Amino acid sequence: MVQAILKPSLDERYSEGEFWTSKQRQAHSIHYSVSYRASFKPELPSFFFSEFLKKKGSVVFDPFGGRGTTAIQANLEGHYAIHNDINPLSVFLAKSRRTIPSIDSLNHILDKMDLTAKTREDEMDEKLLAFYHKDTLKELKNLKQICSQDNSPEMDFVKMIALSRLHGHSKGFFSVYSFPQVSIPAEQQKKNNQKKGIEPDYRPIVPRIKSKLKRDLSEALPPFFHEFSSNNQYYLSDVRKLDPIPSNSADLVVTSPPFLDKVNYQTDNWIRHWFLDIPEEQTDGISVLSSVREWTEFMRDTLRATSRVVKKGGYIVVEVGEVKKGKTIIPLDDFVLEAGMSVGLDWSRTYINTQKFTKLSNCWKVSNNEKGTNSNRCVVLQKI
Ligand SMILES: C[S@@+](CC[C@H](N)C(=O)[O-])C[C@H]1O[C@@H](n2cnc3c(N)ncnc32)[C@H](O)[C@@H]1O
Repeated sequence: MVQAILKPSLDERYSEGEFWTSKQRQAHSIHYSVSYRASFKPELPSFFFSEFLKKKGSVVFDPFGGRGTTAIQANLEGHYAIHNDINPLSVFLAKSRRTIPSIDSLNHILDKMDLTAKTREDEMDEKLLAFYHKDTLKELKNLKQICSQDNSPEMDFVKMIALSRLHGHSKGFFSVYSFPQVSIPAEQQKKNNQKKGIEPDYRPIVPRIKSKLKRDLSEALPPFFHEFSSNNQYYLSDVRKLDPIPSNSADLVVTSPPFLDKVNYQTDNWIRHWFLDIPEEQTDGISVLSSVREWTEFMRDTLRATSRVVKKGGYIVVEVGEVKKGKTIIPLDDFVLEAGMSVGLDWSRTYINTQKFTKLSNCWKVSNNEKGTNSNRCVVLQKI
């Protein structure tokens, strides 16, 4: 029961501190090729690798893989990864970085690319034209078509970079001024354009992809990266039905579930889904849970399925934030514990990573607290 769980000062299994840096963009540049709602910093999995992995070449599993932070960090540190997510977008974002092509090969492809062919009008145009100039949209449609016929690692990498440039604030994005991580509804974008007195201007896409590539591939990869990434496994499954993943195959899980109904991964990604041709029904299963009871049951099923994949003695790290509902802060870590213990996992410890707010959040006059989470609370469970 939740009431039985002792609070930090009363139980030595709680550790509080700044376990990893609060500075932005300190990890390898390849992590930053895509942004993703509620992704964690690469330093988080890295911290737990050093806490719980005894040797190189271990297997790390993330059942809610998102943009692939855990998998990529595992490969960067000489471990194998198992990445799972229910959304094909997530599997694409992770898998497209399994092979990191050379910048020369990518520039070569981009130099040869002809995006000028006439394209067919379709029912999505009206919505998309709220974001894109008609000539930018023509280029995007051509790129989409070319990418759909070529699944080489190079083309997938170009496609992944294009996904990251679809919309945002700066001139480096393909769209008129818009939100970077969330695809807002077209109606809202139209209203924003009117309010700001702006219209989509022509933004050629190839130079934007090239300059993003230059930044993301600026740092050398460790020489062993591909040795590990080429053996990664990728799954597109509901977390409660992980049957395709072999039992006792992972040494460590580092993961972060959807926090109640804070993010809607389906609607927030509608432009990315369009670009990847992911039909709406393929993202219907993404869990959006509104009550704590429902969420705890979901976590119980998640932990039952996940622990089957973990080796005996292995650890499962679940990161959650403190979610605000009205004026109440819900300590989701308590409910992770309840769920974990109910499926026979042992509570090892809980890390509360407190971070000073960054300059960026101050200048936007928001604190993570107001956004719903203010610290990373990482519950560590052990399969006994
Ligand atoms: C908080 S995000 C994970 C972010 C990840 N840690 C990262 O750094 O990118 C939660 C993820 O859970 C996925 N998800 C939601 N419901 C799911 C389900 N039932 N089964 C598997 N994945 C699910 C979402 O698609 C989303 O990618």
